[in-house]
Amino acid sequence: MTDADNALPLDENSRAALSAEGLRYALLDTTDAAAHDRWLQAAYRGLHFAAFTPDELADYRAGFDDARSIGVWDETGADALTPVATVASWRSPLSLGDARSVEAWAISLVHVAATHRRRGVARALLEGELRAAHAAGIPLAMLTVSEATIYGRWGFGPAAYCADYRIATKGLRVTAPMPSGRVHRVDAPALRPLAPAIAARAHERVGGEVPSDALHWDRAFALAARTASRAPHLRAARYDDASGAPQGFVLYSVAEYPDDFSAHTLTVEHLCAATDDALVALWRYVLDQDLVSTVQAALRPVDEPLPWMVSNPRAVQTVARREHLWLRVLDVPAALSARRYAAADSVLLRVADPMAFAEGDWMLTTTPDGEATVTAHAGESDGAAVIDLGVEALGALLLGGTPVEALRVAGSLAEGAPGSADRLAAVLRPARAPHLSTWF
Ligand SMILES: CC(C)(COP(=O)(O)OP(=O)(O)OC[C@H]1O[C@@H](n2cnc3c(N)ncnc32)[C@H](O)[C@@H]1OP(=O)(O)O)[C@@H](O)C(=O)NCCC(=O)NCCS
Repeated sequence: MTDADNALPLDENSRAALSAEGLRYALLDTTDAAAHDRWLQAAYRGLHFAAFTPDELADYRAGFDDARSIGVWDETGADALTPVATVASWRSPLSLGDARSVEAWAISLVHVAATHRRRGVARALLEGELRAAHAAGIPLAMLTVSEATIYGRWGFGPAAYCADYRIATKGLRVTAPMPSGRVHRVDAPALRPLAPAIAARAHERVGGEVPSDALHWDRAFALAARTASRAPHLRAARYDDASGAPQGFVLYSVAEYPDDFSAHTLTVEHLCAATDDALVALWRYVLDQDLVSTVQAALRPVDEPLPWMVSNPRAVQTVARREHLWLRVLDVPAALSARRYAAADSVLLRVADPMAFAEGDWMLTTTPDGEATVTAHAGESDGAAVIDLGVEALGALLLGGTPVEALRVAGSLAEGAPGSADRLAAVLRPARAPHLSTWF
């Protein structure tokens, strides 16, 4: 059953646009298990994931029970009961660092069947989500993406980035001092109940994080039917501080290299640290394993301090770096005033938005203690920095993870007064690079 907080009305413009194509746009009744199963199978097939088994479907029905799940049905098709397009969405906090967060509309499982592509179905779904969230007063929409080519056209910009690392560990020494707490090797299922609370504290330290639901954690700990086969390979360790309080954990697996028993590869599946000490101690634990010559870790922060923690910085290779979290601003004052800022200044943001939600001239005024006010502005800039930009650039800049200067050089924003890009960069600078450690 969809959570009442997520039960936003269906968008009438999108309903009319799809109806004109002979398609029915409707909310899925998640109390109808058979209909929910068809919807889930369709969404996962559309993303080229394996079909669900009955046990997996039971987990996923429960996991997506609260979401607002929409389908598009073609009643002239051979399988009229299975949707030809899907989208699921829900309210979620988005972390902003400094123990701040803002409410956002999370959008997921967007798919249009190959038989119905390039007829404007995704456009109707996405625009419907944005209009519904805006009408409900939700200041931001957010998603993670299969391809970086799709969502800019609807005003989303990449706001948090991630990196994949490969570390050659033979002969490598960890030079960062060992923290005063202790790492314990633990069984993954025993750690599972602690994970959400540790993650919640870890997320307060950085912008871009989105809380995970129970299904996500069950999957990560190989406790969901979909991931149960990984259980024998999944290892876990927990870091407790000197007082014995759990402050972080790592989930990892080790793949044997049959030709050389001392050259196994360790994969960090999830490393979560609520303190700097936990981060250092858990990396030390992972890098100090005997019989392992390579450690790999995906979806990590781009400012991971690893190269500075070891005797040979070149042993730490960044094998990929990607944009990961995309944001779409729907309410400029609410979105921009939620976070703290790094410098006191005034910046006039002249925002262009084809969907009009964020359109206008907005004065961002920040104080020495990092607070902000954002007001609609008419008239002269009165010495403020002035930046002209599109709504997708505003989403990219919001968490401070996208370089202002790079957007200026690339023509994604323009200075209305000399020196404005530097001033905006000084205001936006976050303590840590924004990061999202999961997919949703
Ligand atoms: C991506 C997808 C949802 C698009 O659905 P669709 O109904 O064909 O899209 P639309 O017809 O509404 O197209 C809207 C616009 O997006 C463009 N577009 C669609 N898919 C695109 C893609 N993969 N890359 C770049 N542009 C794309 C269209 O060309 C169109 O452009 P326009 O604004 O210039 O007219 C669909 O192709 C799909 O399901 N892909 C596989 C699953 C997937 O990647 N889902 C996204 C998960 S984040």
